[in-house]
Amino acid sequence: MNKSRIGILTGGGDCAGLNPAIKWVVKTATDDRLQAERGVQYEVVGIRDGWQGLVQADPSRGDSQEWLTPLDQNTVRTWDRFGGTMLGTSRTNPYNPKNDQSKKVLENIEKLRLDALVAIGGDDTLGVASRLAQEGVKVVGIPKTIDKDLWGTDYTLGFESALNIIVEEIDRLRTTAGSHKRIFVVETMGRTAGWLALEGGESAGAYIILIPEYDFSIEKVNDLVLEGRRQGARYDIIVVAEGAKPAGGTESVKDGLVDSFGHKTLGGIGEALANEIMEATKLETRSVVLSHLQRGGAPCAYDRRMGRYFGIAAVDLIVKGDFGKMVSYRNGQITCVPINDVLGRLSLVDVKTQYDTERYNGRRTILNR
Ligand code: F6P
Repeated sequence: MNKSRIGILTGGGDCAGLNPAIKWVVKTATDDRLQAERGVQYEVVGIRDGWQGLVQADPSRGDSQEWLTPLDQNTVRTWDRFGGTMLGTSRTNPYNPKNDQSKKVLENIEKLRLDALVAIGGDDTLGVASRLAQEGVKVVGIPKTIDKDLWGTDYTLGFESALNIIVEEIDRLRTTAGSHKRIFVVETMGRTAGWLALEGGESAGAYIILIPEYDFSIEKVNDLVLEGRRQGARYDIIVVAEGAKPAGGTESVKDGLVDSFGHKTLGGIGEALANEIMEATKLETRSVVLSHLQRGGAPCAYDRRMGRYFGIAAVDLIVKGDFGKMVSYRNGQITCVPINDVLGRLSLVDVKTQYDTERYNGRRTILNR
């Protein structure tokens, strides 16, 4: 029987849903019945810490080294129950112009005899995958990011688990907010995409939701708060995306640093907004930054299921020899798109159809658009 070796890695920010995807790549690739049908015997090797593993691995040391780990059915059996990534991750960019290590990666792929590579990640990780594909590497992508901002797919692993955390935390805040008649401003992640704030805020029933796709007016936020109080609200939950900004203002950044893909570290809008609201309305206001809590914990049922489907579909592409593709979820179907089509554009909230700019909240008309 023909033999083939698949390498798999997770890159970029971790999230819940990565381990289910890894498990199902391994289970599907090494399934005895399927191997007999295909006439190919696959083996899977895990690469540690994203692209860094392929930069650092020493092929002369075989698979028993800190950057590699052979994966079989027994190893991955329980992985789908756990958050994070058992393979580790990093934001290493082998094509970073300040330190280009892409040659090393290409050499290692060849020396490690990786016939195919599964890259699980967002636009940064898939951007590297696409460049490797141009150099002849047989790559398949699986979309993940709690930001849900990847173009070409309606779902990215980690998003629903993060939403569940947002809802749970807001439920907790409600009791203390109500006791003290306070306003809570809850800052979510999401970079330049408002999906986490919008869908998290909608799921949790937030009073005001502020997203990066629509610059807000602080006066309007204050008016809405006072209006709510006049109508009898005892407390308020305001959800703000880390990338949201006031009209005429700029995004809040934590420090001046950028990562190897050029991203700034966003954060701080929640606290700034809380201060402004308290000053203007004289109502007690606190802020909470959900931060990396949104990426932690066990995957929810949806991420386990989607990780499974994406993992199986990635192996289907390898078996078909259909490389340079990212598996995707579109219009209720698991499908795939060329990785190249996904890059350089983001999936953002469509303000016209998905956001109410009068109430600063989700839409109130769904069928009559
Ligand atoms: O892209 C996922 C994400 O969690 C963003 O929402 C957030 O801005 C960023 O990663 C945080 O990155 P780090 O884990 O490097 O702090």
